[in-house]
Amino acid sequence: MLKEIIEKVELFFEEGKKEIEGIKDSELLEKWRIKFLGRKSYLNQIFSKISSLTKEEKVICGKKLNEIKQNLIELYERAKFQIEKKEIKYNLFLPGVKVKTGNLHPITKIIDEIVQIFYRMGFAIAEGPEIETDYYNFTALNTPEEHPARDIWDTFYIEKEKNILLRTHTSPVQIRIMEKYTPPLKIIAPGKCFRRDAFDTSHSPMFHQIEGLMVDKDIKFTHLKGVLSYFIYEFFKKEVKIVFAPSYFPFTEPSAEVSISCVICEEKGCSTCGNTGFLEILGCGMVHPNVFKNVGYDPKIYTGFAFGMGVERLAMLKYQIDDIRYFYYNDLRFLEQF
Ligand code: DAH
Repeated sequence: MLKEIIEKVELFFEEGKKEIEGIKDSELLEKWRIKFLGRKSYLNQIFSKISSLTKEEKVICGKKLNEIKQNLIELYERAKFQIEKKEIKYNLFLPGVKVKTGNLHPITKIIDEIVQIFYRMGFAIAEGPEIETDYYNFTALNTPEEHPARDIWDTFYIEKEKNILLRTHTSPVQIRIMEKYTPPLKIIAPGKCFRRDAFDTSHSPMFHQIEGLMVDKDIKFTHLKGVLSYFIYEFFKKEVKIVFAPSYFPFTEPSAEVSISCVICEEKGCSTCGNTGFLEILGCGMVHPNVFKNVGYDPKIYTGFAFGMGVERLAMLKYQIDDIRYFYYNDLRFLEQF
């Protein structure tokens, strides 16, 4: 009985193999599929007949039948692929093949977005080097050597003796621009910064900042408030409370830290705002007269404001991301969402 069944299905397979060879279009292939793999195929009928076999015979027979079925499926798939390949060639109405294009990194997108907002307010875009000298990163920004405020920035030195370092903030771009141009000026300077920080949920040794600077006659703190308030509203696209709190930076006087009401919990208190209801988003202030002197501007004639903000932090708040490291893992499942 077992031997007989096996011989028959093998013959059935051979028949299928022979028949499929001549098939050149999908209609005939479908008929073949019904005959050899369909519900009423000979193979399926045998499957229902094995109940009369002994237990061991059933195992052997079942295995054989499944093997034959698998081989028939393979024959079918191969023929289907070949036929479709040929038919597609002549079908002008099929949709085109989509090319995978990728997209901009979320940080690049946020930078573009922020820069655009300031661009609409008339700010020009500026850039500076990532490898800086001690002079531009600190000294010219009113932070001479031995100044205790230098400790705020954990610096990567490339050559300590030659005073070459990786910039710790984008503020040196202020100096480079002021050395080159005379007021009035309004610039926005995005770029990479580096600090000897741990790589954890909120820190990365490489990150991005956007620096802003406006210098002219009669620039006042109210201009700074107006510009930043407009920016915050445009960026978050909702009404948020803005707080200017006194702070300290060597290159501004007075200095302020700007906080906004938490965009996640709306002041109820959550882990992102540390239950304070507010989030600090940037540093700013009126340009220190010593900074103007260092670039040859007369502080009696000119005044100005400056600010600096962390791009990753703003991106995290906007998209509600709780770990900065996602930006750098290069995981497409994350990156494709933006
Ligand atoms: N450079 C500062 C930092 O990295 C941020 C900053 C504060 C920039 C005040 C400014 C400013 O231009 O006026 O912490």
